[in-house]
Amino acid sequence: MLEGVLVDLVPYGKRFQDQDHRWFNNESRWWSGEGERNFVSKAQIEAHHQERYDSTQPRSGVPFGVLTKHGKPLGYLGINWISPHSRIANLGAHIGEPEYWGGGYGTDGLLLVIDYSFRMLDMRKVWLGTMSINTRVIRQMAKVGFKQEALRRDAVHVDGKFYDEPIYGMFREEWPGYAAMVEKLGLKARPPKEE
Ligand SMILES: CC(C)(COP(=O)(O)OP(=O)(O)OC[C@H]1O[C@@H](n2cnc3c(N)ncnc32)[C@H](O)[C@@H]1OP(=O)(O)O)[C@@H](O)C(=O)NCCC(=O)NCCS
Repeated sequence: MLEGVLVDLVPYGKRFQDQDHRWFNNESRWWSGEGERNFVSKAQIEAHHQERYDSTQPRSGVPFGVLTKHGKPLGYLGINWISPHSRIANLGAHIGEPEYWGGGYGTDGLLLVIDYSFRMLDMRKVWLGTMSINTRVIRQMAKVGFKQEALRRDAVHVDGKFYDEPIYGMFREEWPGYAAMVEKLGLKARPPKEE
């Protein structure tokens, strides 16, 4: 378990997997899936769980469930995949409860995953891509200290239009550490009523 200020990151177990059918079919998935509008059946969710979370299968990512400090499951945050040879980790985030967006929960979780990637997994670099209209992620990248490294032109098809996909990266030497970032961003614990 990775303990943060606003959230903890825990294994992506049953209490998260049970929400996936809802989370994969609401607008959070549209944002994290870069404009994908496919409805996902319960059978597809089950197949996804088997592929991703069955402990007998080899896997190349580290999925965490995001839990508020008062125990509410919010979504997924983690390493989608690792390139072990180059020591690079691709990160992903998907807060499935839209009313929690903009409250700092996803950012606290991201700080924890970056710290874990560098300190525990000895990664050299973390990176992610998003669609150019995802202002929340673009602001988050800037405040967390990622650099834009590329712009994949017209790379994603979103509701009939094509949009660019900016790619962001951060090297270990650029990471000031979890505690320093919490202070810089002014993240503060919230009492249950304000969650
Ligand atoms: C992306 C995500 C993980 C960020 O987590 P979060 O908890 O919302 O992050 P924050 O609360 O720190 O908000 C990030 C920034 O977006 C801003 N923001 C919030 N709502 C916004 C809105 N409607 N329009 C524009 N910016 C908005 C916040 O103000 C914040 O920037 P600031 O701190 O400079 O003001 C979360 O919003 C999410 O899961 N979204 C849906 C799925 C998704 O987009 N996944 C990412 C795919 S790469």
